Amino acid sequence: MAIDATLLPILVTGGAGKLARLILEALIARGVPPERLITTTRTPERLAALAARGVEVRQADHDKAETLVSAFRGARRMLLISGTPQAFIAGIRVKQHKAAIAAAVDAGVPHIFYTSAPNAAADTLADAHVDHWRTEEAMKASGAAWTILRHWEWPDWHLEHHWRHAVDHGVFYAGSADGRISHITRPDTAEADAGALLTRDVENRTFDITGPQGLRASDIVDALRGAGAKDLKLVMLEPGELAAKLLQTGVPAEAAPIFAMIANAIRGGCYDGVSPDADIFAGRPRTTMAEWLVEALPRVLARPPAGLWD
Ligand SMILES: NC(=O)c1ccc[n+]([C@@H]2O[C@H](COP(=O)([O-])OP(=O)(O)OC[C@H]3O[C@@H](n4cnc5c(N)ncnc54)[C@H](OP(=O)(O)O)[C@@H]3O)[C@@H](O)[C@H]2O)c1
Repeated sequence: MAIDATLLPILVTGGAGKLARLILEALIARGVPPERLITTTRTPERLAALAARGVEVRQADHDKAETLVSAFRGARRMLLISGTPQAFIAGIRVKQHKAAIAAAVDAGVPHIFYTSAPNAAADTLADAHVDHWRTEEAMKASGAAWTILRHWEWPDWHLEHHWRHAVDHGVFYAGSADGRISHITRPDTAEADAGALLTRDVENRTFDITGPQGLRASDIVDALRGAGAKDLKLVMLEPGELAAKLLQTGVPAEAAPIFAMIANAIRGGCYDGVSPDADIFAGRPRTTMAEWLVEALPRVLARPPAGLWD
């Protein structure tokens, strides 16, 4: 597909992050000239290789509002990558997002995209998603055109800090009852984001970047069995019982209550929904959980667990 030059330059914030890097590579692979891409980052030195390929790398830190207007100037479309879980825990994430949105407007960026979360709402049971809802509201009030890309949950963190311990232990404790979660991989999300950034007529619209299937806990256990964990048993608990049981299997103390919160939110439908948007933007079908785990489970089990927020 020919690239519409009127949508360029495209700016992606947080260029040193895992998602942003995948999006930049996907944009280049689709034929965007690197010289028509801008990325902002707190650490330009980490992006020297990308700069050498022609991408314009600029310094910006959403905690330092004074760095932002000049960094965002000249972009026609800007993707604001949402801030980290640590920023959520510190209570500064919405402030970071609002600073970036205000600066983009001041810099004259006509169209802002944002990486939001499943079914973001003021009263969501997924507590970290309130930040995303607040940011969506700020985008809509900003005066710029907006596009919200609601990213469904990646499976990486679950595999790294819960499922691998379940496999080692032989028991998968869940608290989600019959609730469903439509996991999507990070690379599939990045392909969808790149496609959305290159699509006309996405102004003032919200897209659900979900996985291809709504998965119950039993579906995830089946996929883990298919990837090698043949004897894995599923034990369904009440969400209030889940954290203590997860701790017994080796789940980190900081992560166990987060999994219990997510289980409760899955029961409440916060992660439910399957949309074709990701396939349409990516131009190819998404990876299923069974396909992903065949590659990811042995890879993850072959090394020690990563740090909680790596
Ligand atoms: N859908 C999901 O399941 C899921 C799971 C986890 C996280 N997320 C969200 O997706 C985002 C990207 O994920 P990822 O895997 O790429 O995370 P990552 O590799 O940890 O990268 C963190 C990102 O946040 C940016 N950032 C952090 N503090 C910043 C600041 N003060 N100013 C500007 N940018 C800042 C980083 O930019 P620089 O380092 O370049 O400055 C980088 O792009 C996360 O930050 C989080 O909001 C989604």
